[in-house]
Amino acid sequence: MDDKHDGPITKDGIRLHTEADFEGMHRAGQVTARILDDIAEHVFPGQTTEELDHLITQMVEASGATSATIGYRGYQHASCISVNHVVCHGIPSNKVLKPGDILNIDVTVILDGWFGDSSRMYVAGELPRKAERLIQVTYDSLMLGIEAVRPGNTFGDIGHAIQSYVESQRMSVVRDFCGHGLGRVFHAPPNVLHYGRPGTGPRLEEGMFFTIEPMVNLGRPETKVLADDWTAVTRDKSLSAQFEHSIGVTASGFEIFTLSPAGKFHPTWR
Ligand code: MF3
Ligand code: CO
Ligand code: CO
Repeated sequence: MDDKHDGPITKDGIRLHTEADFEGMHRAGQVTARILDDIAEHVFPGQTTEELDHLITQMVEASGATSATIGYRGYQHASCISVNHVVCHGIPSNKVLKPGDILNIDVTVILDGWFGDSSRMYVAGELPRKAERLIQVTYDSLMLGIEAVRPGNTFGDIGHAIQSYVESQRMSVVRDFCGHGLGRVFHAPPNVLHYGRPGTGPRLEEGMFFTIEPMVNLGRPETKVLADDWTAVTRDKSLSAQFEHSIGVTASGFEIFTLSPAGKFHPTWR
């Protein structure tokens, strides 16, 4: 233990947190969620992703938190903004949003040492029908994964809930990126896979904190990373969507730290 407030670590290397730690994660998660609420009105055709990132940088500063991504492995922005066939880690740029573009905005803040990591889907203008189905399936897969979170279940149960639902809708789950433990660190064990078999993987215990952040493609699951070493895209150029929550395992199930205070987690709920 590196601090008297830290709980023990399981044989799988996963830290078990205390009741006071849940409070810290809730506060950090709510800062992230409010930023994701507040950025929604700034997403429209003609807007650039670097302007969105600039606004997010200001919102992080105004909140009293700090950005977890600025300076992380050389990354220089307060958000990742992934448009259309970009799967994740899109770098904000002067690229202008067009009507019908869909985008994931992913924000991580640090408040009092605790990390709040969440992402949602947004649309510039009207949501095209095919994109709407993709976004709905991705959102539902995240919530099905979360509903599998309770002590005694395994990480494989979470992955299976997500994968079986997505594939039943004839879409695919990205294998190349996963969720992660977090807490007073950004990326900790375990890797939270969004596919898997029931009953496999580490067992869930009260006090574990991690993200679930499924990426779902309309086409094939394969991705590639562009020459900028960050931007991950679908190899077949098909549309991709993602939602991410930071959650904690409670005695009876889960707590979602990054729930939207305004109830705007889903793009059609604006
Ligand atoms: N927020 C991302 C995640 O969900 C990580 C972004 S790292 C960055 O884990 F450097 F690309 F910002
Ligand atoms: Co994450
Ligand atoms: Co994230």
